[in-house]
Amino acid sequence: MASGQLSRAEALACKGCRHACHVMLYCDTKTQLFGKIPLRHIILMQMRFDGLLGFPGGLVNPSKETLEEGLGRELLEELGVAVPISVEDHVDSRYAPTPLPSSAPLIAHFYVKKMEEEQIIEVERAAVTTATDYGQEVLGMVRVPLYSIRGSAGLACFLSHSFIGHARSQLVDSLLRFGLVTPDLLHKALRHSLETHK
Ligand code: GTP
Ligand code: MN
Ligand code: MN
Ligand code: MN
Ligand code: MN
Ligand code: MN
Repeated sequence: MASGQLSRAEALACKGCRHACHVMLYCDTKTQLFGKIPLRHIILMQMRFDGLLGFPGGLVNPSKETLEEGLGRELLEELGVAVPISVEDHVDSRYAPTPLPSSAPLIAHFYVKKMEEEQIIEVERAAVTTATDYGQEVLGMVRVPLYSIRGSAGLACFLSHSFIGHARSQLVDSLLRFGLVTPDLLHKALRHSLETHK
């Protein structure tokens, strides 16, 4: 296991810790931008109330619910539709940076779930119509551009935005792990984004 990572069991053994679960929902798509640039996949992220990009999900209470039940509850609030998440969708758990040194440690659990394109589009639609958090904790759903055009346009520009916690590395790691972009495209996008960002 890579450094900084915790097993599920180790994470749950920390009684004084707070726990947050977030998920990357995605699908394959054959849609092409301008009829020629393959979109490859639809990956859902959200614009949060604080102006940062992140994944849907939130704080869970393992003394009252399983991690996956808690994540399901958060998804219902933030996406307006039930999206069942199972233990098999779990990718990793790690300590998250906390804003105040005095606050209880936060463990961030991350999940990735592949869905059908129709389901992703339904989730996206529900998020702005029936979700109770829309317009409050969630300002909108966003898709991640997975192509590169005119140098830094596309993925590099997207990665130059500001993200909550380590959501940016959760995204980048997942793109590689699940083969959603080529390593070459990702490395070029990371290089461009570092030039335009910071
Ligand atoms: P409330 O209902 O207001 O409590 O919000 P929430 O339960 O939806 O919690 P939120 O989604 O804000 O997540 C809780 C904490 O986890 C945040 O304060 C961040 O520190 C962290 N966090 C939020 N989104 C992400 C994400 O996409 N990735 C990671 N790694 N951490 C996140
Ligand atoms: Mn147009
Ligand atoms: Mn929430
Ligand atoms: Mn949330
Ligand atoms: Mn919450
Ligand atoms: Mn809430």
